[in-house]
Amino acid sequence: MFDVVFYHPEIPPNTGNAMRLAAVTGCRLHLIEPLGYTLDDAKLRRAGMDYRDRATVTVHPDLEACAAALSGRRVFAFTVDAHVLYTDLAYEPGDVLLFGPESVGLPDEVQHHPWVSERVRIPMVAGVRSLNLSNAAAIAVYEAWRQQGFAGSSRRRAAGEGPSSEDGAGAIR
Ligand SMILES: C[S@@+](CC[C@H](N)C(=O)[O-])C[C@H]1O[C@@H](n2cnc3c(N)ncnc32)[C@H](O)[C@@H]1O
Repeated sequence: MFDVVFYHPEIPPNTGNAMRLAAVTGCRLHLIEPLGYTLDDAKLRRAGMDYRDRATVTVHPDLEACAAALSGRRVFAFTVDAHVLYTDLAYEPGDVLLFGPESVGLPDEVQHHPWVSERVRIPMVAGVRSLNLSNAAAIAVYEAWRQQGFAGSSRRRAAGEGPSSEDGAGAIR
């Protein structure tokens, strides 16, 4: 599976959403400090719901520590500045998907760090700044996983799991 890295994430619900993404796709989430919150932040907990406990999350003190822990991997840095489209890659299990902080995106020195294999972009219409961090991560993870035939996925809900109100229970689905 894949490793998703958030460099200096700032907004708790985005990390909570990413924890849920990690839990439902089987990818692993890495957070590079400093973080703009603590891991017991109420907004993070609300966004991650009970999926937080099912996600594999590692906190690294800095970029070098994360790069050392995930050395030998291909690393794709997601940035609005790139020319290569994220869909032009042939993803492989073990690939690392790297994302920047909400306010400023990935700094140049990170985008061009020797650890980074390629910079990639998710297309957008003209005149807009960027996607939300957790949305960008979800788009990337699902494309990478789609290319693996959604290996390890289940077609069924977990036993005993009904729709939650947060998922729009009662709505037409
Ligand atoms: C809210 S965005 C950062 C916006 C920041 N103002 C900028 O200009 O990069 C947070 C992160 O989501 C990812 N992201 C958002 N939109 C993207 C896109 N269209 N292509 C690639 N990555 C994107 C990047 O990793 C970015 O650092």
